[in-house]
Amino acid sequence: MEYRAIKVQNKEENVSLLGFGCMRFPTLENGEIDKVQSKEMMLHALENGVNYIDTAYPYHGGKSELFVREVIQDLDRDSFFLADKLPIWDCKTKDDVDRIFHEQLDKCGVTYFDFYLIHAVNKGRIQQIKDLDLLNTLEKYRDEGKIRNIGFSFHDDLETFKKWVDLYDWDFVQIQLNYMDINHQQGMEGYDILTEKGIPVIIMEPVKGGSLVRFNPVIETQFKERDKDASIASWAFRWVGSLPNVKVILSGMSNLEQVQDNLNTFTNFKPLSEEEQSFMAHIREDILHLSKVDCTSCNYCMPCPHGVDIPGNFRIFNHHSMYKNDGYVHWRVGELTKKDAFADQCINCGECIEKCPQHIDIPTDLERFQDYLKENGLK
Ligand SMILES: NC(=O)c1ccc[n+]([C@@H]2O[C@H](COP(=O)([O-])OP(=O)(O)OC[C@H]3O[C@@H](n4cnc5c(N)ncnc54)[C@H](OP(=O)(O)O)[C@@H]3O)[C@@H](O)[C@H]2O)c1
Ligand code: SF4
Ligand code: SF4
Repeated sequence: MEYRAIKVQNKEENVSLLGFGCMRFPTLENGEIDKVQSKEMMLHALENGVNYIDTAYPYHGGKSELFVREVIQDLDRDSFFLADKLPIWDCKTKDDVDRIFHEQLDKCGVTYFDFYLIHAVNKGRIQQIKDLDLLNTLEKYRDEGKIRNIGFSFHDDLETFKKWVDLYDWDFVQIQLNYMDINHQQGMEGYDILTEKGIPVIIMEPVKGGSLVRFNPVIETQFKERDKDASIASWAFRWVGSLPNVKVILSGMSNLEQVQDNLNTFTNFKPLSEEEQSFMAHIREDILHLSKVDCTSCNYCMPCPHGVDIPGNFRIFNHHSMYKNDGYVHWRVGELTKKDAFADQCINCGECIEKCPQHIDIPTDLERFQDYLKENGLK
């Protein structure tokens, strides 16, 4: 297992580069965590060198923390690092913070968190944490030995990211980063800012929530011709693990094969060579070329008088063409249909066409999208 050094409350510790994300355990038919399988997966990872566990209050409908407790209760507390996150959206008062934080310690059956994050922050949360005097409260918990490192996890744009970074002297920050998201949310620029400031980085969504593990055959063939034994997922992990300031890469593994595959990648971890870096840059371009509509989601065409979510439909079209993620597309199409915003609501009135700066023939492409879904058995 590859380990990386990180300061945890001023003490140099070695965290495993592969972290166990506790958001995507396998589930039973009734939606509950499949505890037998999930425990086997976690113990297998821990026995093979993983020492970083990442859970959160809302994962698995509030049951992830309780399940993590079942797995870690027999382990030596010094043998792993536990990360948990404050659901800031549930905190209206200081009392809410105190109640939820202590409930989390109880649910996990621990007396302290090694890494504690303000969960999924964005623009709107800056004023909220000031109003709650949250950073002082977290420092108090740290002084009391209930938290070792303080950080945040982020989902918003670069400008907002800069503001969050400047708010406090963070011990670490968790960002979404993978080879397709270098310009998405805070992107690579966000990583560079953290690195310049000496703030260690934890990565989430390294395979874009499962999108970077299966592709159109054009892309899959390139990966397999390059190395027939390497899993496609391993390329994404190696890409992000090649960044030196990345200390932990969280993977939300959902079966034992994925755990084993990722252990293979992170045991004797090989950063990408220069040549492999340019291979990945080409792959990225090829994936982007698979996009079906040059829609930039600018929204100039909106609102459609007949309720169609034009950019929303095109995003799904492009997403499936690039990533072949059937489950995601099924769900998104269902959501649009429920809101009467799916492409089939278009009556071809043509009102949107001249508003589009990309000169997209919107009604024609909405029809193309519907034909594509039918051809792929998705509608
Ligand atoms: N703080 C936040 O705001 C936040 C947000 C998101 C995530 N997180 C944390 O970060 C962790 C990682 O994020 P994530 O789970 O979204 O990211 P991810 O690792 O990019 O995606 C997880 C999915 O990738 C697929 N996968 C992983 N390894 C694979 C392999 N070797 N072969 C094939 N497929 C593989 C699985 O997809 P299938 O299930 O489709 O097979 C799995 O469910 C989460 O579990 C969570 O702990 C935090
Ligand atoms: S052409 Fe279709 S998508 Fe465009 S405004 Fe008319 S109904 Fe809406
Ligand atoms: S105006 Fe054109 S580019 Fe902008 S969201 Fe609409 S379709 Fe996409």
